[in-house]
Amino acid sequence: MAQFILNGEQVTTDAPADMPLLWVLRDVIGSSGTKFGCGIGACGACTVHLEGQAVRSCLTSLASVEGKQVATIEAMARDAVGQRVQAAWREIDVVQCGYCQSGQIMSAVALLKSRPKPSDEDIDGAMSGNICRCGTYQRIRIAIKKAAGSTA
Ligand code: FES
Ligand code: FES
Repeated sequence: MAQFILNGEQVTTDAPADMPLLWVLRDVIGSSGTKFGCGIGACGACTVHLEGQAVRSCLTSLASVEGKQVATIEAMARDAVGQRVQAAWREIDVVQCGYCQSGQIMSAVALLKSRPKPSDEDIDGAMSGNICRCGTYQRIRIAIKKAAGSTA
């Protein structure tokens, strides 16, 4: 039996301890905002926050989140930084197919919480693990700067 806090709510599950958090979220809990892309830590589509840090949920075991705070894209509408990021995403019209975007937003929010005024290098460093097959990278950078309050 494992317990963790998901978007402010306590979750208890008897899923196997070695099950990746991504599977727990999607298949056990039925929370579908976090996406499966590669399953091997190479695309960033599955990015969530673990104790405020952006992590790949496909590489994060259920056992490793025991008793900890997990946040997913579903919580970002209630998060001050998440709201700013999502507003900037809409304003810049970042999204194309959208598949990568919950992971992109989770990485962007974690970045802005640790570095409220990120440099281009900070953005590159934080976002380099999030792949977008539609090539929205330039708009993502502009939107992050917009959310940070900097001129894009
Ligand atoms: S699904 Fe986790 S990094 Fe691709
Ligand atoms: S918007 Fe299509 S993969 Fe990123």
